[in-house]
Amino acid sequence: GSVVLAYSGGLDTSCILLWLKEQGYEVIAYLVFIEDLRSEFVQEFIWPAVQANAVYEDRYLLGTSIARPCIARRQVQIAQREGAQYVSHGATGKGNDQVRFELTCYALYPQVQILAPWRIPEFYNRFRGRTDLMEYAEKHGIPVPVTPKAPWSMDANLMHISYESGVLENPKNHAPPDLYQMTKNPEDSPNEPDLLEIHFTRGVPVKVTHVKEGTCKETPLEIFCYLNEIGGKHGVGRIDIVENRFIGMKSRGIYETPGGTILLHAHLDIETFTMDREVRKIKQSLGIKFSELIYNGFWYSPECEFVRHCIDKSQENVEGRVQLSVFKGQVYILGRESPKSLYNEELVSMDVQGDYDPCDASGFIRINAVRLREHNRLQGAAQKK
Ligand code: ARG
Ligand code: SIN
Repeated sequence: GSVVLAYSGGLDTSCILLWLKEQGYEVIAYLVFIEDLRSEFVQEFIWPAVQANAVYEDRYLLGTSIARPCIARRQVQIAQREGAQYVSHGATGKGNDQVRFELTCYALYPQVQILAPWRIPEFYNRFRGRTDLMEYAEKHGIPVPVTPKAPWSMDANLMHISYESGVLENPKNHAPPDLYQMTKNPEDSPNEPDLLEIHFTRGVPVKVTHVKEGTCKETPLEIFCYLNEIGGKHGVGRIDIVENRFIGMKSRGIYETPGGTILLHAHLDIETFTMDREVRKIKQSLGIKFSELIYNGFWYSPECEFVRHCIDKSQENVEGRVQLSVFKGQVYILGRESPKSLYNEELVSMDVQGDYDPCDASGFIRINAVRLREHNRLQGAAQKK
């Protein structure tokens, strides 16, 4: 039969390609970077994550996790178009990525058959390390990478780069300073901040301008690339964490997400400015749920569709502009403005009465104190006993 392989051009998937042919499959190599899914990746995957303030375990912005359903969706489209029954990928048998790729494939192409060589004994017993892969490649005339491989595994896309395994597996080892490829070390970043203004409509950025230089970006892809550039220049969005993989083990990961980090700060600001307090609380818990579903590979599931829909609804009035400064690894919010602002300057002002009677606050506080005073009384009684 025919198999569509998510092919990266690296050593692993090059060997997988040939091995699959040896097993008698007709292989269709699918190169994500040639397909250029960048525009749809921004609009259909990164933007919903921005609306949700999607963060896994309080720190990880999910750059790899949201790319998997985007890649796998295209992969099954190709499989269906080519009449291929099989799809294949080079993810290991211990990670999250295998789950994400395959859940997406099953959800969108229920009859699909999966070939995951790193879980097939004939494959992983034959290729026990990088040397085996190199030998096999050389023997079969596959061009092998000339540069020595970095002593860690990397996954790079438009949103981020992640680094795992190898020398990083010991969580106490510091990342070498030359590991980072998307961001400058904040210690060496410019001594002058860049001031940006980001305009939001329905919780997504629609325009970014550089306040002094006047640079202006208006398409989703241009906006995101520009924020990556500015964030990268100032060393924004580096994290080093230990996280919980879905399959039940902890792993150490290093990430750089420059543009995504700027957007997270800007979006949080305009959202709180324009959203009702109680709606915000519910929406925040949906964002946590959404992040967990994305991390675990359930982008295409009824529950994720439901949550995404609710989050999108919450963004109706998340509109306006935020001015911020990007400097030395940080994003500093400077000010915000919105036609949908729920902020009432007169109501909050210390100088104006507004539609508010301060005397009412006495009762409000005393009613809230009922429980606290009662707690104190009962504790005192218990201590006397
Ligand atoms: N731990 C991250 C995630 O599960 C990144 C995984 C891919 N990283 C890699 N270096 N291959 O989303
Ligand atoms: C992999 O195992 O292929 C990368 C790590 C992960 O998926 O969690």
